[in-house]
Amino acid sequence: MDEAVRDRLAVALDVDDLVAATRLARSLAGYFRVAKIGLELYTAAGPEAIGAMIDLGYDVFCDLKLHDIPTTVNRAARVVGEFGVSYLTIHAAGGTEMLQAGVEGLTEGATRPSGVLAVTVLTSETEVAATRDLVADRMELAFDAGCAGVVCAAPDLTATRHIRPELIRAVPGIRLAGDSVDDQRRVASPVQALAAGADLLVVGRPVTRAADPVEAAERLHRSLRQ
Ligand code: C5P
Repeated sequence: MDEAVRDRLAVALDVDDLVAATRLARSLAGYFRVAKIGLELYTAAGPEAIGAMIDLGYDVFCDLKLHDIPTTVNRAARVVGEFGVSYLTIHAAGGTEMLQAGVEGLTEGATRPSGVLAVTVLTSETEVAATRDLVADRMELAFDAGCAGVVCAAPDLTATRHIRPELIRAVPGIRLAGDSVDDQRRVASPVQALAAGADLLVVGRPVTRAADPVEAAERLHRSLRQ
């Protein structure tokens, strides 16, 4: 197994059942360093799901996309930190004070090294033409608030590469040639996304909904070894 490739990969466990998530995660642990728990799985199994993924050796990416008053975000982030997550998402649209409150909460609660990833824009939020400036502004905001990184789409990476390069760039919408695009509006191949400056590739359905997820994960790794 290529550890350098594995280090860059997060699997999005977008299922609503902990048994299914655990089965999938167990079979894919050799291929992905990070397990992303989104709202669907978190709503179903919350802290138990985080613990199960940590037990399997994953770093946990808790994708809750928090957006609320600073006090609430601070407290929620502290609790999530106590569960041992490595990454927590908060909406950059909530502004500096809210992001800062989340960063402080996560830091206070953290039981492992962890950081906030600010969600720049949702693919559903804006027209593509207006996106790049907004992504750039929100990267600055994320940096100023002390976030460890950002979540952004691959097509925005190149234009925003010069902005705060120290921020981790987590990138969803990853597809290999022949994969279904599903509801992703702005996709890139793993090689393209890494070449454009992605640090962590978030891959869901192309692997998790494949007839053979392990074979799909192999294919993903092969594409990055070439
Ligand atoms: O499409 P895929 O299943 O690989 O999605 C992986 C992650 O991408 C999802 O967990 C979600 O957070 C994110 N996503 C997105 N934009 C969409 C659909 C999903 O950023 N339109």
